[in-house]
Amino acid sequence: MLVLVKEDYDDMSKEAAKIVAALVRRKPDCVLGLATGSTPLGLYKELIRLHKEEGLDFSKVTTFNLDEYVGLPPEHDQSYHYFMWENLFKHINIDPSRVHIPHGMADDVEEHCRWYEERIKKAGGIDLQVLGIGANGHIAFNEPGSSLGSRTRIKTLTEKTRQDNARFFKSIDEVPKYAITMGIGTIMEARQLLLLASGKNKAHAIKITVEGPITAMVPATIVQMHPKATIIVDKEAAAELTGKYEG
Ligand code: F6R
Repeated sequence: MLVLVKEDYDDMSKEAAKIVAALVRRKPDCVLGLATGSTPLGLYKELIRLHKEEGLDFSKVTTFNLDEYVGLPPEHDQSYHYFMWENLFKHINIDPSRVHIPHGMADDVEEHCRWYEERIKKAGGIDLQVLGIGANGHIAFNEPGSSLGSRTRIKTLTEKTRQDNARFFKSIDEVPKYAITMGIGTIMEARQLLLLASGKNKAHAIKITVEGPITAMVPATIVQMHPKATIIVDKEAAAELTGKYEG
């Protein structure tokens, strides 16, 4: 596991973009796993810049998003579909038929989750999975206590996560109670993981993820078991780390 401590959010985002862009250049038909949330916004901004200014070509890239709220249609401005199109896809030359995001309005959620796993397999597996981390150590919507071998499925969101996400909705009552999420087992099958964290409210989660014991109570700790994981944090998120890490 490579841990890089960057000066600030901007440096973290640029370093992450370098890693993603290098893969897209080396393997133009690569499969990217993507995350939503505030953390990867800087990474997406930099990828858009690389596309516009340096011709980074996404036309053959396939993407799979980690998760989606259940009950929100794709056009809802808090759906992860909407987020991805607004913040990345509509600004780059991605082929819409290669974009995959779990469908929050699926009639048969279990069947949809099986289909999603199947699509990932058919695409040849995920080459690089981008991850954020919740203040409680969740990855995707795998909340504390999730099975470390779990697959794509529907999950109940914890009150903490609903409160953390309430800032994006008019009131907490509007925050969905369920989400479809890739499982921890699904995420761990990606050939490379890139976990990003910024800000002091992530410092404790990062401390346990990097230096604590592996436990389902902090799902991100499983990243320690991945053969090719890079964790990029800014100084604030690194504040509780005691080991020495590269800049
Ligand atoms: C989003 C996701 C979540 C976020 C996490 C951190 O697709 O999978 O696990 O990565 O909640 O969110 P932010 O980046 O908003 O702090």
